[in-house]
Amino acid sequence: MRVLVITGAGVSAESGIPTFRGKDGYWRNLDPTKLATPEAFARDPNLVWDWYRERRQRIRKAEPNPAHQAIAKLAERAREFLLVTQNVDDLHRRAEWEQKCIPRDKIVQIHGDIFVTRCSRCDWQRYEREHEQHDDGSLPKCPECGAFMRPGVVWFGEQLDLAKIGTVENFVTGGDCDLVIVVGTTALFGYIIDWALRARGHTGQLVEVNPEETSLSPIATRSVREPAGIALPRLVNELLRSVSA
Ligand code: OAD
Repeated sequence: MRVLVITGAGVSAESGIPTFRGKDGYWRNLDPTKLATPEAFARDPNLVWDWYRERRQRIRKAEPNPAHQAIAKLAERAREFLLVTQNVDDLHRRAEWEQKCIPRDKIVQIHGDIFVTRCSRCDWQRYEREHEQHDDGSLPKCPECGAFMRPGVVWFGEQLDLAKIGTVENFVTGGDCDLVIVVGTTALFGYIIDWALRARGHTGQLVEVNPEETSLSPIATRSVREPAGIALPRLVNELLRSVSA
């Protein structure tokens, strides 16, 4: 099986991480232009850092859920596999570590990694998975050039990382997928729909797992209207049974 999985915030919802546009989602109460743009960071870096530190704390305390685990199981069994996640949390990665044998290059965090703190001017960066280096609330500065450090995520109005686009494009153009699963995303960004459609080619299945209808629903070959933590373990088990039969 050649499989592409694309995930969004809904896959981490059952781990207690809020989505962006769903019920109780971040963007229901907070203004993205004040928190997730380069202009917001230039205007008020303390406010932006406070929000990211709070989210980091919540993610540190969270655990991968059955949906992350089912995707890890699929990654282990598929002949060729790529996971493209819009999530900046590390729950997919932790689920894959539990599975122990999934190479890092099978996961692309297309919107970045919340635990990366990187310089806003030069290339310097560090990883702060375990704890904050500035938990006194002060603004981190680059040890190389002295500029403010920022979270290593993609903000509105910023380009995606070209190397990450390259990894996805190589996979998408490397042959039609038997199966594309799109989970827990409103699929608002054109590149998400584009990758899903091109990867499935003419014959592959395009399965959407989402309790709500999205812009991807009309082009999916199957829509599973259930929470990911319930639907995915069943879907993956069904699939693995059918290919081993
Ligand atoms: P959204 O918050 O836009 O969408 C979450 C989706 O998950 C919705 O379609 C929900 O119906 C669905 N959902 C909720 N609970 C679910 C569950 N238990 N199982 C399955 N699905 C569930 O999140 P994204 O589509 O990921 O960008 O948002 C895309 C990007 O917009 C994010 O990466 C972020 C945001 O602004 C950046 O940070 C650049």
